[in-house]
Amino acid sequence: MSGRFEGKVALIAGGAHASKGDLMGFGGIAAWEILKGGGKVVIGDLDDDAGEKSVQQMRDDGFEAHYVHLDVTDEAQWASAVSKVISEFGSLSIMVNLAGTLDRDSIEGVDIDTWRLTMEVTNMGMFLGVRAVAPSMREAGGGSIVLISSMAAKLASDYGSAYATSRAGMTHFARSAAVQLGPDNIRVNTVLPGWTITPFTAALLEDKKATEWRNNRVPLRRWANADEIANGILFLASDEASYVSGSELLMDGGTTAWWGPGPD
Ligand SMILES: NC(=O)c1ccc[n+]([C@@H]2O[C@H](COP(=O)([O-])OP(=O)(O)OC[C@H]3O[C@@H](n4cnc5c(N)ncnc54)[C@H](O)[C@@H]3O)[C@@H](O)[C@H]2O)c1
Repeated sequence: MSGRFEGKVALIAGGAHASKGDLMGFGGIAAWEILKGGGKVVIGDLDDDAGEKSVQQMRDDGFEAHYVHLDVTDEAQWASAVSKVISEFGSLSIMVNLAGTLDRDSIEGVDIDTWRLTMEVTNMGMFLGVRAVAPSMREAGGGSIVLISSMAAKLASDYGSAYATSRAGMTHFARSAAVQLGPDNIRVNTVLPGWTITPFTAALLEDKKATEWRNNRVPLRRWANADEIANGILFLASDEASYVSGSELLMDGGTTAWWGPGPD
């Protein structure tokens, strides 16, 4: 829909994977769509090579985009990222936080540093991010914050307890933020994706048996494509969602609605 992001400026944390020709994350796809809709974008990430390459392509295509190094667990780096947005574009109206990392072991097996990092990137990241962007959004007369959680917020597994716990915490934090920032016309929502083909899951997708098990576990019988999840992010970021705040958008192909296959 052309023009739906006219006049909007977005900070996309964890959106570095946006290069044409490479597998894109859903933040990367959302960044391109915001630009095509008339908006301006600053991408922040740890992966500087991917981020610089992505924004160069965006600029080569005539769009207004910048990259800034951003570790979402660092308060000073959030302050620098917001300063970059304001100095380049003058205002801030959208923030999407997609930064994520995963613990791949059981509660007893996982090492404590991995647990701590997973909780820190999700939960400290969202907290510092909302604190950092709220003043500029308030000054702009409002804004939209979209935090990327996961269907793991609704399900437990034999691994990834830090991931699931931190993602569940994110959905409740978003409600707190929606309540506290609503009077300033700042909306806060979460997206809960199911299994999606992105750089985050590239290694997992190489395991054909595990991929097929997941296909059969999803009522729609397939993984999501990244653009299908980006559509949800874009809806919540846009004015089309002007009365949506404090909500969870579950985009999991029906997975969490299902007990799983019965015994034949
Ligand atoms: N792909 C899936 O199946 C899936 C499903 C549910 C949720 N998610 C979540 O969606 C988000 C986006 O992932 P994606 O699948 O588009 O892949 P992605 O790899 O494109 O995005 C994740 C990004 O987070 C960045 N990152 C990691 N730690 C960071 C930090 N401390 N500070 C800043 N950036 C950091 C990575 O460099 C990467 O660019 C992640 O949080 C992921 O957990 C993914």
